[in-house]
Amino acid sequence: MFERFLSKDAALLKGSEIRDILKITEGKNVISLAGGLPAPDTFPVEEIKKITQDILDNDPEKGLQYTATAGISEFRRELVNLSNKRGITGINDRNVFATVGSQEALFMIFNLLVDPGDVVIVEMPSYLAALNILRSRKPIFIGVNVKENGLDLDELETKIKKSISEGKKPKLLYVIPTAQNPAGTTMNLSDRKRLLEIAENYDILVVEDDAYGFLVFDGDNPPPLKALDKSGRVIYTSTFSKILAPGFRLGWIVANEEFIKNVEMYKQNVDLHTPSFTQMIAMEAIKRGVIERQIPKIRQIYRHKRDVMLDAINKYFPKDARWSKPVGGMFVFAWLDKKIDTTKMLEEAVKRGVAYVPGASFYYDYSGRNTMRLNFSYPTESDLEKAIQILSSVIKSFS
Ligand SMILES: Cc1ncc(COP(=O)(O)O)c(C=O)c1O
Repeated sequence: MFERFLSKDAALLKGSEIRDILKITEGKNVISLAGGLPAPDTFPVEEIKKITQDILDNDPEKGLQYTATAGISEFRRELVNLSNKRGITGINDRNVFATVGSQEALFMIFNLLVDPGDVVIVEMPSYLAALNILRSRKPIFIGVNVKENGLDLDELETKIKKSISEGKKPKLLYVIPTAQNPAGTTMNLSDRKRLLEIAENYDILVVEDDAYGFLVFDGDNPPPLKALDKSGRVIYTSTFSKILAPGFRLGWIVANEEFIKNVEMYKQNVDLHTPSFTQMIAMEAIKRGVIERQIPKIRQIYRHKRDVMLDAINKYFPKDARWSKPVGGMFVFAWLDKKIDTTKMLEEAVKRGVAYVPGASFYYDYSGRNTMRLNFSYPTESDLEKAIQILSSVIKSFS
């Protein structure tokens, strides 16, 4: 009955495919490799308990009162310090902005920048919830494949040139250079520099999603694009979801001051400000070194789980399958034989006790139907091995 009252924009809204999958597995005996949940044993419960008590004892008004739209100023200074740890220097509290998760950051950024018909470049595959926000802006998409070392820069440049020659200059590139969700890839330093050169040459804005920037557990962790950005064309987002707790719904933006002011005006319309209480807790968690102590612990746990998953994949997956070997983050991405449709295969997999996310959702055009995303951060180690074993037998029966 309500449909006839909905706005045209509401008709474009799409539910998250992952949440739908989580729904079909509810109450069933299914090991889920579908979610993107951090391991609950990484949450620093005791420290959070203590910090919360201290805030209520010592500074209840700051935690419970309304605050500035951009965030509590003391917290923003800590965000500057945390961003410095990722190598982003030369910024001050006017360059940072506290958001309700990095999801809200992406929502505001894309709504502020993308008009219908604008040309937007995305990775294939890319983070599905960002693609869904972008879809609602009705852009013209250009998809660029992700290879072993992240975005294929030759393809990027070729596609930019082609689009310009057709009279459509790309405006913005959305990219996850580090521990990409879902592909699990990380760009090396020279590719990062080249990407920025391309963005400069063709005057393209870069939205860098660094959700997993602190979760690289092998090799060097190259600096984010924002740390290499000389002209201020990179808009950077990150989150406390993977290094503290996703339930806080706390993320941040780093960008030039002018754009931060636009975000501020936008957010006044959305929700006035990010909750003061969670900002205070996260601020104390940074100041007291909780985050700094957390990061190596989380890396160690995920490195081990990644190894368990990759060992099982190596052992059981069919030989014609290909998969990423992530140096960080929470996901392995797999490319199966072209004739397998992972969306169709899901029902059988769930019946046999394992869920995953079919890869098509991670492609702006829903291609990539033979791909799948597998999460290793949440399941227990024994479940990981068992799930891959079951999944391999399902894949083989569809080959
Ligand atoms: C690449 C990427 N960006 C952004 C987000 C949003 O996270 P949050 O809103 O919890 O910060 C996620 C969550 O999984 C993600 O994987």
